[in-house]
Amino acid sequence: MNGEKITLSVIKADVGGLCGHTSAPEELMDACEFVLEEALDELIIDYYVTKCGDDVDLIMTHQKGTDNKEIHGLAWSAFEEATEVAKELKLYGAGQDLLSEGFTGNVKGMGPGCAEMEFVERPSEPVIVFCSDKTDPAAFNLPFYRMFADPFNTPGLVYDKKMQTGFDFDVLDIYQNKKILLNTPKETYQLLALIGNLETYSVKSVYRARDGEIAATCSADKLSKVGGKYVGKDDPVAIVRPQSGMPSVGEILEAFAKPHMVPGWMRGCHWGPLMPVGEDDANPTRFDGPPRIFALGFQLSKGRLVGPNDFFADVGFDSARKKALEMADMIREMGPFQPHRLSESMMEYSSIKKVLADLEDRFVPNEKHEVVDKLTYDVEDQS
Ligand code: 13P
Ligand code: 13P
Ligand code: MG
Ligand code: MG
Repeated sequence: MNGEKITLSVIKADVGGLCGHTSAPEELMDACEFVLEEALDELIIDYYVTKCGDDVDLIMTHQKGTDNKEIHGLAWSAFEEATEVAKELKLYGAGQDLLSEGFTGNVKGMGPGCAEMEFVERPSEPVIVFCSDKTDPAAFNLPFYRMFADPFNTPGLVYDKKMQTGFDFDVLDIYQNKKILLNTPKETYQLLALIGNLETYSVKSVYRARDGEIAATCSADKLSKVGGKYVGKDDPVAIVRPQSGMPSVGEILEAFAKPHMVPGWMRGCHWGPLMPVGEDDANPTRFDGPPRIFALGFQLSKGRLVGPNDFFADVGFDSARKKALEMADMIREMGPFQPHRLSESMMEYSSIKKVLADLEDRFVPNEKHEVVDKLTYDVEDQS
């Protein structure tokens, strides 16, 4: 036990789809709930199971701290049970995210995604859990920036004295497995220099600079070597703590009012708009998408999850949805061409490498061209 501290753990996995990659059926959530119910009062204080597209999300509260073996083991058992059901029903990609043969102590690097934070409950502790499908963790780079560093999104940064020293962003270099802490507003430009590159950098967590209090975290550190190959592009989850010296609920949700392009969508190989939807509308169909996200608001009461409030179901997000669909129409016209299609390096988890490898031997040297040689000469001459 860690004294008064409460841990909120959101652990997710894709254990099978109905049909294709569009949705996880009720049976999978029932299987997970059965396992979590058994652990209630013993290991966990409360839980809520949901799904976004084909990803099952376990929202759990407890007092074991982050990266706890028992909690991660519990989530793993729930996903294993659900995988058995998925296999029985011959769901698509049954057990897709359970990459390891057995549980080894922490779900990170084994397939599931995980966002966790530990804190002392404030006199009133609102939290927002974000669940998404058909995208990857860098999808939170822009919204986290808007929430915690952009006064046009969050006027509280200007009005609230508690936020005036800004926020610290923990940024991961997902290829080199390194991280850097940058403060806004002091290092806003340096932060943007990194996190505007969604391929390499992912915001993992955000802390209030004044006291180091955790404000937000997402499942960005999944990238790991499993069985000799890198896996990690995955549908992320996030937790954000609003109000009382943090951005308000509305300021946090406002970050999704203007949809932005994220990597993911069809075969995880395309840029597409992230569409905010209600929990019941998180069934990506068109071109397996468009990518989507929902936001569940809870009040914590001694670890009890009171709620949720399904925020993006609100009509206030209708025009964001309309805009996202217009963006989807526009970029879909590009078909397999960039910039709809991701860059080669971002597609490294798809099988296009094999398609290109087959063509390798058929490439022949291009003929030298006299005009080109002359042009090169002329350009050099001018310098
Ligand atoms: P209330 O006055 O309704 O508490 O709202 C304050 C606030 O922070 C709105 O975002
Ligand atoms: P998921 O990553 O959600 O399983 O989707 C994979 C896919 O191929 C979608 O077209
Ligand atoms: Mg899937
Ligand atoms: Mg998915």
